[in-house]
Amino acid sequence: MSSKPYKIDQLISAKSIAARIEALVQDIERDFADTDKLVVVGLLRGSFVFIADLVREMSLPIEVDFLEVSSYGDAMESSREVRILKDLRGTIEGRDVLIVEDIVDTGHTMMNVTKHLAQRSPARLKSIALLDKPSRREVDFKSDYLGFEIPDEFVVGYGIDYAQRNRNLPFIGKVRFV
Ligand code: IMP
Ligand code: MG
Repeated sequence: MSSKPYKIDQLISAKSIAARIEALVQDIERDFADTDKLVVVGLLRGSFVFIADLVREMSLPIEVDFLEVSSYGDAMESSREVRILKDLRGTIEGRDVLIVEDIVDTGHTMMNVTKHLAQRSPARLKSIALLDKPSRREVDFKSDYLGFEIPDEFVVGYGIDYAQRNRNLPFIGKVRFV
């Protein structure tokens, strides 16, 4: 895919992300202290770096599973429907579930994913997002745990892509067209 030339300006450093994750895990471990069956579900592909860092901070007994839904294509537009491209491998019925998302934008993706997984009768269903752009919200969704609120900027890095690129950046940067 070709795209206009752009530069990436750092918005959140790797160090800030790591510090925020430590604090978030304290909250999560307090809330799920009694669990013996937490399934941490990463939404592919954007959450793969976040979930890797998140679970390595956790000492609760957990399992990791992944779900892939379609949201954005290779464009900066949100589609309004969510389609399951890759389903969970395991069952979540009667289990505690934490959905891990990279970024909540309009809110459609997480709203739909949450509704969908709720139908499978988990014991508890919570969500964590690394980033949130509240000014872009179109539906009433709020994650239970949040890393950072950010302004309406297109961001990349730390697992998050622009046209499949830049996922490997260790920090969060904003895209600036030049
Ligand atoms: P929503 O359904 O509009 O909330 O979109 C959420 C999804 O859009 C996220 O999982 C991301 O994959 C993608 N997304 C939203 N904002 C950005 C961005 O700034 N950079 C890259 N992907 C984004
Ligand atoms: Mg995504």
